[in-house]
Amino acid sequence: MSKLLYIEASPRKDRSASIEVAQSFVSAFQDENPDNLVETLDLWSLALPEFDGDRINAKYRVMHGENPSTDEAKAWDEITSIVEQFKNTDSYLFSLPMWNFSIPYKLKHYFDLICQPGLAWSFSPDTGYQGLITGKSATLILARGGEYSSSAEAGAMDFQKTYMEMILGFIGFQDIQTVLIEPTLTDPESKQQTLITAKEQAVSIAKQL
Ligand SMILES: Cc1cc2nc3c(=O)[nH]c(=O)nc-3n(C[C@H](O)[C@H](O)[C@H](O)COP(=O)(O)O)c2cc1C
Repeated sequence: MSKLLYIEASPRKDRSASIEVAQSFVSAFQDENPDNLVETLDLWSLALPEFDGDRINAKYRVMHGENPSTDEAKAWDEITSIVEQFKNTDSYLFSLPMWNFSIPYKLKHYFDLICQPGLAWSFSPDTGYQGLITGKSATLILARGGEYSSSAEAGAMDFQKTYMEMILGFIGFQDIQTVLIEPTLTDPESKQQTLITAKEQAVSIAKQL
């Protein structure tokens, strides 16, 4: 038995290319072992707390080893429970569209809540920064209207893949596999073929978990 945390970042639901491919992944994961568990976080239906002044103050208090105020402690407890929910799994699936060459703001908001000192990463002058979420695999399903993998020039504009791999690497992930769905803004036949190929890749990864 294994648990998968599926984080869904497109608001387009049944019109979404990234969700369509992610659903193939989830089905294959469940078919592999009926006891496998899937927890889905739809970032568009969650009421994520603002990462506001109290929470940032709480973050700096923790970083500097100081005692937080009552409000800061409450704010920090809320963030801690979100991070603990994130950590409570064996593997991860992220599905997301490219928005303005990067990731949707709801997913950036989620990472701003998750990436906390002492919970997701640590720092010491001797060892530098260290990710604390280790030994877990992540699969990224990335939909984009254009094509970014075909040339270095186009790839230089791809802050979706690079950001996801960088931020997950920063918090400790070493095993990251990526499925690209590109280009989605094309004729229906080509898009269909792109989806078929991406689903095959996704199913193959899911069966190895
Ligand atoms: C707000 C917004 C911004 C977008 N920005 C880009 C972009 O910078 N580059 C690109 O190739 N496609 C861009 N697109 C197109 C989407 O990445 C593309 O339609 C993708 O398939 C959407 O994934 P989804 O169907 O899973 O939501 C954008 C779409 C929206 C709605």
